[in-house]
Amino acid sequence: MAKIKRIGVLTSGGDAPGMNAAIRAVTRMAIYHGLEVYGIRSGYHGMINDQIKKLESSHVSNIIQRGGTILKTARSAEFRTVEGRSQAFVNLQKHKIDALVIIGGDGSLTGARLFSDEHDIPCVGIPGTIDNDLFGTDYTIGYDTAINTVVEAVDKIRDTASAHNRLFFVEVMGRDAGFIALRSGIACGAEAILVPERDTPYPKLKKYLETGFVNKKTSGIVIVAEGEHQGGAYEIANKVQEDFSQYDVKVTVLGHIQRGGSPSAYDRVTASHMGAAAVDALLDDQKSVMIGIVNNKIVHVPFNKTIKAHKGLNEELLKISEILSI
Ligand code: F6P
Repeated sequence: MAKIKRIGVLTSGGDAPGMNAAIRAVTRMAIYHGLEVYGIRSGYHGMINDQIKKLESSHVSNIIQRGGTILKTARSAEFRTVEGRSQAFVNLQKHKIDALVIIGGDGSLTGARLFSDEHDIPCVGIPGTIDNDLFGTDYTIGYDTAINTVVEAVDKIRDTASAHNRLFFVEVMGRDAGFIALRSGIACGAEAILVPERDTPYPKLKKYLETGFVNKKTSGIVIVAEGEHQGGAYEIANKVQEDFSQYDVKVTVLGHIQRGGSPSAYDRVTASHMGAAAVDALLDDQKSVMIGIVNNKIVHVPFNKTIKAHKGLNEELLKISEILSI
């Protein structure tokens, strides 16, 4: 294989705190090895529209602590087409870019797999999503910060819930996965956690509320993952209000606050580790793999595996969450 000389780096899909730390690590690790680095703006959209600029070490100074992504991000419909991907490849050739690092979630890595299959260019992925839903890695960049954001918000909600004797339904992100809900719910001492991976039938939820909130507690928090199957926090809260008319039921949807903010130390270190490992992997002639972290060790997961396989929730944590909320 020809030796790699120029790496392109991009962030794609939903932004996640720690993406900047990953861009910094990729850039500096590549420069350390004598490679040139090109930043591709706005994800695959910028690859198609030739928004490609050389990155120097100084361009990534003072960004490790910043949320969002200095490269910007986008979800590109055009990159889902063969024509879009061909145009993107033409632009990479124009800049003599011979390898890519893609920082993003499931959709971004699916795009990377198609792209590297169609155009013979090595691509390595770095899992960047607050959802933590990628198979083959214990953590994705942004997940830890998002959980801490949820915990901080719910702690505040609990103060007012307790002052007014209210029951709050707090909806958190995660797309169709319940990782954010489960971990933040345990950290907040939630009375119940509703996740898409395991249905909590309405009678069961009612029972939780009767044994806990109604009988012993004066206030309560139920964490609802946005992807759960009963229609979301508002729908469930309305039903509960009908059945427990004596209680004051409120809903908070935390929304995009979960995507922003300065990354936690954990996310910065994970992003730095993964970013450096991505460059190492390319120099080691690897392609079509995602960098993961399992038991604190770097692993290389083939795109096919991480895209197709489904990561399950930690059953032990699920069980503990039920026991501890009685
Ligand atoms: O994948 C990250 C995520 O924040 C999900 O949790 C959420 O469902 C989705 O992105 C929201 O996307 P958008 O910002 O495009 O509305």
